[in-house]
Amino acid sequence: MSTSKPGLEKSVTTGAGIRQAFLKFYEDKGHAILPSASLVPEDPTVLLTIAGMLPFKPIFLGQRKAPVPRATTSQKCIRTNDIENVGRTARHHTFFEMLGNFSFGDYFKEQAVAWAWELSTKVFKLDPKNLIVSVFREDDDAFAIWRDQVGVPKERIIRMDEADNFWTSCPTGPCGPCSEIYYDFHPERGDDNIDLEDDTRFIEFYNLVFMQYNRDADGNLTPLQAQNIDTGMGLERMAQILQAKPNNYETDLIFPIIKTAAEIAGVDYFAVDESAKISLKVIGDHVRSVAHMISDGITASNVGRGYILRRLIRRVVRHGRLLGIEGAFINQVAEGAIAL
Ligand code: ALA
Repeated sequence: MSTSKPGLEKSVTTGAGIRQAFLKFYEDKGHAILPSASLVPEDPTVLLTIAGMLPFKPIFLGQRKAPVPRATTSQKCIRTNDIENVGRTARHHTFFEMLGNFSFGDYFKEQAVAWAWELSTKVFKLDPKNLIVSVFREDDDAFAIWRDQVGVPKERIIRMDEADNFWTSCPTGPCGPCSEIYYDFHPERGDDNIDLEDDTRFIEFYNLVFMQYNRDADGNLTPLQAQNIDTGMGLERMAQILQAKPNNYETDLIFPIIKTAAEIAGVDYFAVDESAKISLKVIGDHVRSVAHMISDGITASNVGRGYILRRLIRRVVRHGRLLGIEGAFINQVAEGAIAL
C-alpha cells in the first residue's frame, strides 16, 4: 500500500476536496459545472441512474440539443449488479459518486486523454510510475496518443477486449471504445505478466469513453451524429488512493457511517473479525443508497426501484442483527450518511 501523496494538501485529499478539485479543473477548461441529476432517471430503460452520462443520453443520441458544448458533474449513482461483492472487495459499492467531464461533439480523444493525465498527475499529483492505462484492443489511435503524446511506456498500455474496454450503459444506446487509467500500488512488481484484474495491485479510477456509436437491439453499431466524450472517475476510489486507505470503505466518505454502526453494535471496527467487518461495510455502503434514494422520492415497495430500496433496507437490518444490534438503528446510521 502506498503512503500519502507527498506535496498534496490535506484539503485536496478529502472526498469533498477531490470533488471540488475535479470540477474546478474542468471548469477552468471551459466546462459548465452542472448539478447531479436525480437517481430516478428520465431514461425508461434503467431503474436508477447508473452512470454520470445517463442524464446526457438524449444529447449523445442527437435527440436533444446540448445546452453547452462541455460539461462536468459529480453524479450520484447506484448500481446493484455487484451487490454481493459489497463489503467483500476493496471497491464495490451500490452507491457512489461519479466525477465526469463530457464533450458533446466538441473535443475528442486527444484532448480527453491529455486532460485526464494532467488532472491525475498535476492536480492529484499521482506519480506517473504508479499509473498504467488500458485501451480497446483495436484502438490504435488511443494507444498512440498515450505512447507518443503522453509518454506512457508501451508496456504500460494494455490492450483489452470488448468486455473491459468497450463501454455501453445498456444493451442498446450510445457506446464506444474506452480507455481506463489504473493506479498501480506495486510498480516494483514489474511490467511482465500484468493482470489489471488483480485488485491487490491495481485499481481502475478513471474511465474515458470515446462515445461515437449507437448500438441497436441486434448489436449493430451506427456512428452517432457527433463524436463525444463521456468520462467517469470514481470519487471513492480516488479518495482511497489519496487517503492511502486499504479500501474505499475506510475513506472519509464512508467510514464515519461505519463508525456510528460500530458504536451502536458496541464493537471496534479494527478489532472485529472479517465477517463483522463485512457487515459494517455493507451497512456503510447501503445506508448511503437508502438515504439518497429516499431523498430523491423513492419509496419502498414490491416492484421496480421501490423493490431495490426495500432490499437494501432489509440487508442493512440483517447485517445489523448479525452484529448483535437489537431494535431500530437505521435512522441513526442514516443521519451519518445525510451529514456527509
Ligand atoms: N460512462 C462511463 C462509466 O460509467 C464513464 O464508466
